[in-house]
Amino acid sequence: MTALIGLGTYLPPREVTNAELAARFDTSDEWITARTGIRTRRWADPGTATGDLAVAAGERALKSAGLGPGDVDAVVLATTTPDHPCPATAPDVAARLGLGHVAAYDIAAVCSGFLYALAVGHGQIAAGQARRVLVIGAETYSTILDPADRTTGVIFGDGAGAVVLAAEPETGRPGALLGVDLGSDGALRDLIRIPAGGSRLPARDGAAADRYFTMQGTKVFQQAVVRMGDSATALLERIGWRRDEVDHLVGHQANVRILAALARYLKIPAERAVVNLDRVGNTSAASIPLALADAAAQGRFAVGDRVLMTAFGGGLTWASAAITWPDIHPC
Ligand code: UT7
Repeated sequence: MTALIGLGTYLPPREVTNAELAARFDTSDEWITARTGIRTRRWADPGTATGDLAVAAGERALKSAGLGPGDVDAVVLATTTPDHPCPATAPDVAARLGLGHVAAYDIAAVCSGFLYALAVGHGQIAAGQARRVLVIGAETYSTILDPADRTTGVIFGDGAGAVVLAAEPETGRPGALLGVDLGSDGALRDLIRIPAGGSRLPARDGAAADRYFTMQGTKVFQQAVVRMGDSATALLERIGWRRDEVDHLVGHQANVRILAALARYLKIPAERAVVNLDRVGNTSAASIPLALADAAAQGRFAVGDRVLMTAFGGGLTWASAAITWPDIHPC
C-alpha cells in the first residue's frame, strides 16, 4: 500500500489583487469575483522560477514527513511552466534539495499534473522501485500569460505544493492512497495550449502572441464538470465508497462555479467542497496540494476522513485520487 506521510506548500510573497488587475486590463473586481470566485492571487517576482517554488515546497514536505537527505528515492514534478524547455526541472530540484542521485523527472499534464504525478509515484512504490517519492506540483503561470488577454490574465496564480508518498505495510492506516483514475482526450487538445515553442511550431517561427498560454474558457468549463465528475464517479465505484461517505471533495481550483457544478453533478453537498481559489487563483499543477494544505490549516480535516481529489486540464487530461486523511502536520 502507498500512504501520504508529508505535505508542504509555498506561495511567493507578492500578492496581486483584482483591483491591481483592473488597473491593467479592461476588467473589474466585480466581474472577476462573480465569474470566477477569485479575489487575489500570488505572482512570483521576475527572476523567480518554478524550480525555486518547487524546492521551497519540497523542503517543507520533507520536514512535514520528518525526512532528510537519503530518505527519498524519486522526485516527480508536475508543471506546465518548467524552468527550461530542456532539461526537466525535477533533477535540479532533487539536487538542490540534497537528495543525491535519485530518479527525477517532470510530468506534463497541465492542471491534472499533480494527480498524474501522484499516480506515477504510487506506481513506482507499488512496483517496488521506490520506498518514498516526493511528488511536487509547481507553477509560475505569470511567466506565460498574455499581457493582452484579460480572461487568462485574471485567473492564474503561482505557487507550489508537495507531498511525500511512502510504502506502508499496514492496510487501512490513515493516509492510505486507495486508488487513482486517469484519462485524456487529445482530440480536444486545442482548448488549452501554448501554440509555439514546441516542434510543431518552433519558437523561432511563431508570432510573439503564439508563445502565450491560450484557453477557450467556456468550452473548457463544460468539459471540466463532466470529465472530473465522471472520473471521480468511476473511482468511487472502483474503491467502494458511496458518495455520502465522501467527507471532503477537493476539486481543481479553476473557478468557484465549476466547483459548485461539480458538487451538484456528484450529488455531494456543496459545503463538503474545499475552496481556496479566492486567495490563490488557479495554480494549475499546484492547485490540489495547496487546497489540501489550506483545508488542513483551517482544521477541516480529521485523521481518517475520506478525501476525494479530482482535477482537469489541458490535453485534455483529467485525474482523480482518493485518500484517507493522514496524521501529519503540513508545513
Ligand atoms: O485550469 C484549467 C482549466 N481551466 C478552467 O477550468 C477554466 C474554465 N473556464 C472558466 O472558468 C470560465 O469560462 C472563464 C472564467 C474563463 C470565463 O467565464 P465565462 O462565464 O465562461 O465568460 P465568457 O468567456 O463566456 O465571456 C463572457 C463575457 C465576454 O463578453 P461578451 O462577449 O459577452 O461581451 C467576455 O469578453 O465576459 C467577457 N470577459 C471579461 N469581462 C471582464 C472575459 N474575461 C473578462 C474579464 N473581465 N476578465
